[in-house]
Amino acid sequence: TGLRLYDPGFQNTAVARSRITYIDGEAGILQYRGYDIEVLAEKSNFLEVSYLLIYGELPTARQFERFHHEVMHHTFVHHNLGQLMRSFNYDAHPMGMFISGISALSTFHPEANPALNGQDMYVNDARMRNKQIFRLLGKAPTLAAFAYRHRIGRPNNLPRNDLSYTANFLYMLDHLSEEEYTPHPVLVRALDVLFILHADHELNCSTAAMRHIGSSRVDPYSAVAGASAALYGPLHGGANEAVVRMLQEIGTVDQIPAFIEAVKARKKKLMGFGHRIYRNHDPRQKIIRRVANEVFEVVGQNPLLKVAQALEQAALKDDYFVKRKLYPNVDFLSGIVYHSLGVPLDYYPVLFALPRIAGWLAHWKESCEEPNGKIWRPRQVYVGEPRRDYVALEDRT
Ligand code: CMC
Repeated sequence: TGLRLYDPGFQNTAVARSRITYIDGEAGILQYRGYDIEVLAEKSNFLEVSYLLIYGELPTARQFERFHHEVMHHTFVHHNLGQLMRSFNYDAHPMGMFISGISALSTFHPEANPALNGQDMYVNDARMRNKQIFRLLGKAPTLAAFAYRHRIGRPNNLPRNDLSYTANFLYMLDHLSEEEYTPHPVLVRALDVLFILHADHELNCSTAAMRHIGSSRVDPYSAVAGASAALYGPLHGGANEAVVRMLQEIGTVDQIPAFIEAVKARKKKLMGFGHRIYRNHDPRQKIIRRVANEVFEVVGQNPLLKVAQALEQAALKDDYFVKRKLYPNVDFLSGIVYHSLGVPLDYYPVLFALPRIAGWLAHWKESCEEPNGKIWRPRQVYVGEPRRDYVALEDRT
């Protein structure tokens, strides 16, 4: 008909039919495949949740054992990829290193390239899809740990496939001591719950990017690298880092009123507040609060917490935030937990990207299986110049 709806930022456009994640932003409900996030955070573990997101059902004990085995036996990366990671400047941003490492995976697994093996290879071949799923879930923590170890100037730790997914990741980071290090079970569980909470969130910016890039039928390594780049931005996966920087800048509780005024004058943004979908509360917030307390019991209180709590209370009472329905989101506290674990600020987005890979892969698989899946190609409303004549350089004034 030629009729186009102008919808900047896709605020009202549904671009996919999905069975993965349900969100009711008004009621503050988040479900993966029909299971409440609160129940999964309490009873499940990250790898089981990954299986659920990707394959649609909770695994049986046998299916889980097999999935765990497959993922954990894809944790090693090619020696040359390790060299690539070591070639970055010592102060390179870990997210830049991570994105490059993920992107480079496509060159180490050329058989995963649909340009060589047929553009429909992932549409038709479940075995090939699974192969890349295992590899991406298995190798991403290793690359993430490489980026971390490079950043702090220490040699890499080889993956330990006998550990759980999150325990192995913490083991590879090994940031607490020089000696053989056993990750603390409370910290492992805390990270596992944080990973569950971050695993999917329907069509957020990076997942939409994953589907968008994937719709061109590129290999999933390149698509995950692109989705990771979307997540890198401060309005998305960079928000937890920005929250801690903001709290450090505020410094003390007595500086909060001045900061709130600066936000209301639009000179600053209250990072960790607001959400495109949640207009009442973010259900992940309550769970993170519990996780944060468990972590503080092991590693001690974090001085930033006092500022965060006072800031939250001040904002929740203030008309500016109430009127706009701005509430703390998942990132308001997650950064403080990472800070308490001693993780450097610029590493936080990596800790968001890692679990989100499970969600990206679930959406990628779903879109591969879609009948009549089309390349994503939105339209625009052209508001530029009408047709005009070219003027030679010497005639221009
Ligand atoms: N601080 C101050 N004002 C805000 C904030 C904030 N954090 N968030 C929204 N507003 C204001 C905004 O200025 C606008 O005011 P007005 O109507 O007077 O122009 C109004 O609230 C509506 O905001 P919006 O920008 O239209 O909302 P959006 O849905 O486009 O943006 C958001 C959502 C998450 C990008 C935004 O709330 C934000 O920038 N928050 C801070 C960054 C952050 O915490 N991001 C993490 C999101 S959760 C994890 C994830 O999904 O990545």
